[in-house]
Amino acid sequence: MRFVDLIARKRDGLSLTAAELQSIVAGVVDGTLPDYQVAAFLMAVYFRGMSPAELATWADSMLRSGIVLDLSDIPGIKVDKHSTGGVGDKISLILAPLVAAAGVPVPMISGRGLGHTGGTLDKLEAIPGFNTQLDIETFRRLVRELRCGLIGQTAEIAPADRKLYALRDVTATVECIPLIASSIMSKKLAEGIDALVLDVKFGSGAFMAQLPRARELAQTMVAIGEAAGRKTVALLTDMNQPLGAMIGNSLEVIESCDVLRGGGPADIRELTLALSAEMLVLGGVSATIADARATLVKLLDNGAAFAQFEKIVAAQGGDARALSDYSRLPVATQVVDVVAESDGVVHGFECAEVGRAAMLLGAGRATRDDIVDPGVGLQMHVRIGSHVRRGDLLARAWVSDRSKTDEAFATLRDAIVLGDGPAVAGPLVLERIDASSLAP
Ligand code: URA
Repeated sequence: MRFVDLIARKRDGLSLTAAELQSIVAGVVDGTLPDYQVAAFLMAVYFRGMSPAELATWADSMLRSGIVLDLSDIPGIKVDKHSTGGVGDKISLILAPLVAAAGVPVPMISGRGLGHTGGTLDKLEAIPGFNTQLDIETFRRLVRELRCGLIGQTAEIAPADRKLYALRDVTATVECIPLIASSIMSKKLAEGIDALVLDVKFGSGAFMAQLPRARELAQTMVAIGEAAGRKTVALLTDMNQPLGAMIGNSLEVIESCDVLRGGGPADIRELTLALSAEMLVLGGVSATIADARATLVKLLDNGAAFAQFEKIVAAQGGDARALSDYSRLPVATQVVDVVAESDGVVHGFECAEVGRAAMLLGAGRATRDDIVDPGVGLQMHVRIGSHVRRGDLLARAWVSDRSKTDEAFATLRDAIVLGDGPAVAGPLVLERIDASSLAP
C-alpha cells in the first residue's frame, strides 16, 4: 500500500490496520516517509481522529521506536506521575521523594518548561550541582538504591515523538487529543513503569483550558495506558490560579522544601497528597486512599520525605545543604513589589498570563533554545477571593534584569481579574478517571 493511499483512507474517515500504522511510525523514524506526506497524514488525524484500537497501536509503535527501559529486576511496582503542565506546578519535586519514602519506586523522566508553564528539570537544576542528564545505568541504580531517579528525556526514548512533534509544531496539528495523548503516553510508557498517575489540568493556566477537552484528554491517556497493560489513573485538577505562591525555579525549590518538611501552602500539600495517594495504592503499599494519605501525612510531618529528597539530591550531584540553607540557592538580589492599582476582590486569574509574566522575567522559555534564569520569579500574595485595596501587595518579584520588568508587571496586573462581591475558587481535584470510567 502506498502512503498516499493511507493518507486518503484517514482523510475519508476510514480505519488503518495495525500493520499500516506501525509502518507509518517506522517510516517517520527511519526518514523514508517525506515530511510533506507525514504532515498531510497528521492533518487527516487532526480532523478524523483515531479509534481506540488505532490509538493503542499508534502509541505502542511510538514507544517502541526507541529504547524501552526494563526495570523488572528492581523490586516493587514502579509508578510515575505526569502533569500536563501548569503555573507554579512544583508537585513532582515533593511527590517523587515522598512516594519513594513510602516504599514505591518512582522512575521519573521529566521535561523542561516552555511558554507559560514551568518544567521539573529547570526547577531541579536550580539546585547547585544537580545533574538531570544521567545515563540510563546510573538512573537504574538510583531507582534501585533510593527508589527514585529524576532525569530528563534522552534522545533514545520515543524518537518518533520528537520527529512527529516537530512536524506538528509547524503544521497547526499540536492541538489534537489523539496526537497529544499518544505523544505523552509513548514517552511515559517507555520509562519501564508498571503504573501511572496523570494530573490533567483544566482552567486558564492549563494546556487544555476547557474542562470537556481536558476530560477527553484524560480519558484518552487512561485508555492508552490500560491498553498497554499499565494501570493508569487520571485526576482532573484546577489550574485557574497558580499552585502555591512561588513561580520561578529557585523559588519553587524553596516552596517544595517547605512542603517536604510538613509546611508550605495548603493547595500544594493537598494536590501532592491526592496524587501520591493514588501512587501508593497503585504501587501496592496501601490498600485504600485513606490509608495512603495517613502514611503520606506522617512522612511529610516527621521529616522522612525531606530526608529522602536530601539523599536523592546528593546522589545526583546536588548540594543538599541548599535545601535547608536557601542562601545556597541562586536567588536574584533585586526584589520589587507589584502593588494593586485599584480596589476589588480577586475573581480569577488569566493564569497563563501569570506564567508568561514570570517567563518575561527570565524564569521560563519563549522558545526551546532560551536559557532560563533560576533566580528570578514571583511570589503571589493574592488568590481567588482575596480583597485588595489600591496600593496593596499583589506579588513580590525577584528580578535580575530591570529592562524586563515593565512588560512583566503590566502582564501580571492585567492577569489578575478584580471584581465586586465575594469569589471562591473551585475544587482543586474535580474528578478521578480510571479504567472503570471509560466507555466499554
Ligand atoms: N506535551 C507532549 O509531550 N506532547 C504533546 O503533544 C503536547 C504536550
